Amino acid sequence: MIAKHSHVQESLHAEVDAVLGNPEARKHMTEAEIFAKLQDDLFAQFPYATAVVNETQRMHPIAPFVGMEAIHDTILDGYVIPKGTTIMGMSRVASMNHCPTPDPFQFKPERWIECTVTQRRQQERLDWSFGGGSRVCPGRHLANLEIVSAVVLVLSLYNLKELVRAPSSSPVAECASFLFPTFPIVTQGISFTSTINNVYVRYIPRA
Ligand code: HEM
Repeated sequence: MIAKHSHVQESLHAEVDAVLGNPEARKHMTEAEIFAKLQDDLFAQFPYATAVVNETQRMHPIAPFVGMEAIHDTILDGYVIPKGTTIMGMSRVASMNHCPTPDPFQFKPERWIECTVTQRRQQERLDWSFGGGSRVCPGRHLANLEIVSAVVLVLSLYNLKELVRAPSSSPVAECASFLFPTFPIVTQGISFTSTINNVYVRYIPRA
């Protein structure tokens, strides 16, 4: 997603360089020097990188579905769900179809920054990339901290450039585009975790 949206990559580079210095200086920094510049709350220190991660997870959740079982007979939105029925909840449907900020099918990290508190809370509640309710992933904050760190450290040294290749012909990818026909930015394979099938990226050292 970063390689496909050059203005996003530029904003990320600007945010990262403001903390870690220009790429030439960063190249020669030791691990201790890097850590000395990072604060405990990386989400607050790198709000744009955090927004990019949130937005990527909104559109391409790593866990594409969450399995649940009705523990008693239930009526859900008019549908009768008998006790013992397994339901597979598709993680991104709600966050795409009921997103409170404009252009839900566009990749817009800004929606996590230029929004009201109510809209942000709603976006967070709709995001099922880590599941939800009482069984929500307890490792979600740690996972996001690691993902934001990785984005920051990689972008401080590299430009990501998308390589153009023919679209994937994998049947799994076709299945994914059938499920989300209005969303052709990338095709996604759906299994226990989801994979992106048709994006190839080159890491180019920044000058
Ligand atoms: C990007 C990384 C991760 C993703 C996408 C992810 C996603 C998920 C999802 C979708 C669930 C099911 C939630 C539900 O049923 O509603 C889950 C459960 C769980 N996750 Fe994660 N997770 C990640 C990282 C981690 C990490 C780093 C840890 C531990 C340090 C962790 C520990 C767990 C545990 C223990 C559960 C079971 C919770 C329960 O059933 O009560 N996860 N995760």
